[in-house]
Amino acid sequence: MGRGSTYATDGWTNVTPKILSYLGANKHLQTDHPLSIIRQRIVNYFYGAYRNQRGNPLFSVYDQMNPVVTVQQNFDNLLIPADHVSRQKSDCYYINQQHLLRAHTTAHQVELISGGLDNFLVVGEVYRRDEIDSTHYPVFHQADAVRLVTKDKLFERNPGLELFEETWSGTLPDPKLILPSSKFMDQTKQPCHTLEAVKLMEHEMKHVLVGLTKDLFGPRIKYRWVDTYFPFTQPSWELEIYFKDNWLEVLGCGIMRHEILQRSGVHQSIGYAFGVGLERLAMVLFDVPDIRLFWSNDSGFLSQFSEKDLHNLPKYKPISHYPQCTNDLSFWLPQDIEVDAGFSPNDFYDLVRSVAGDMVEQISLVDKFKHPKTGRSSVCFRIVYRHMERTLTQAEVNEIHKQIASASVDSFNVQIR
Ligand code: DAH
Repeated sequence: MGRGSTYATDGWTNVTPKILSYLGANKHLQTDHPLSIIRQRIVNYFYGAYRNQRGNPLFSVYDQMNPVVTVQQNFDNLLIPADHVSRQKSDCYYINQQHLLRAHTTAHQVELISGGLDNFLVVGEVYRRDEIDSTHYPVFHQADAVRLVTKDKLFERNPGLELFEETWSGTLPDPKLILPSSKFMDQTKQPCHTLEAVKLMEHEMKHVLVGLTKDLFGPRIKYRWVDTYFPFTQPSWELEIYFKDNWLEVLGCGIMRHEILQRSGVHQSIGYAFGVGLERLAMVLFDVPDIRLFWSNDSGFLSQFSEKDLHNLPKYKPISHYPQCTNDLSFWLPQDIEVDAGFSPNDFYDLVRSVAGDMVEQISLVDKFKHPKTGRSSVCFRIVYRHMERTLTQAEVNEIHKQIASASVDSFNVQIR
């Protein structure tokens, strides 16, 4: 279970074989998958937003962290109180009392900061027990980011300013002794930080996250900041966008609790962090109506998206639930004609559409080669037939396929193989 490790089960175990089957699915890394496209958009935005003096990206990306984490990583390290609802067996997939499938990518903060990182992104799938409907699925994807800044960097232009209050002793109360709750948390700042440090960090963070939102949704997107509470940040905010007549929450963020930096061995920095759900973004950006589609292996879904042009996101077109029927068509092009030199695949696609109309779901060029002796070029197209309203019979598909072949002969002077 979990990359070759074995774990003892106990009274806390509630993972199911079905849930475990999602480990390693890595939809966020699958070529041309919409979740992978969103991951690349976020990563590329951060690469561009922060660069070092040599022009290289400041952020490093961790997108293959093991989703099996300890209770300490997922909760304790992030100061989530022992009695917090999110720890309940009814909300998480526990492997045993000490281990669970991460419920958020925030779970990796302390290990990565302890390892010496100060600007990083974590992308991966997270697991939460939930009903399944068009917007909820027990496995979904998040991206989390952390940025730590030292006093010298933050106050480059104001060397007199400090990160920490002069009156602060340097020690923080044991988080077990305080029960942070929205009612008792000061939404202005943590007692240890100076107001100047918090305000500068807040400004930088909000500037970068609004930039990300505009990069994804366009420069005219309407947005607003909403005060909120997370155990691991103070102050904390949610960013909402106005979409289809509703305010939609897109991300959570805040100034990192200093206890988290301290327990990672960092004492002279202040940090911000944020977390965002990829499915939520992808559903809006591609117009995907149901979260379950991201788990589809149907080529009618997957073939609609391509990472070749990350900045031109297509709108999803509903796929049929009737069966597909796939036929290949190969032909020789006339002498001295080649693909994109006298013969354009797009012309063939148009011909197919005009002959077969809505019976065709996908067309792709699967093979081309040049005969070494005759010098003639051959192409092979794969046509996937599928109707939105009924099951096509093989006989009627064969008939249409024949019509496409003879129309190709007439229009392009090709020779069917
Ligand atoms: N972990 C939070 C969630 O799953 C999202 C989040 C909020 C992540 C604030 C962060 C953060 O890193 O600073 O809802």
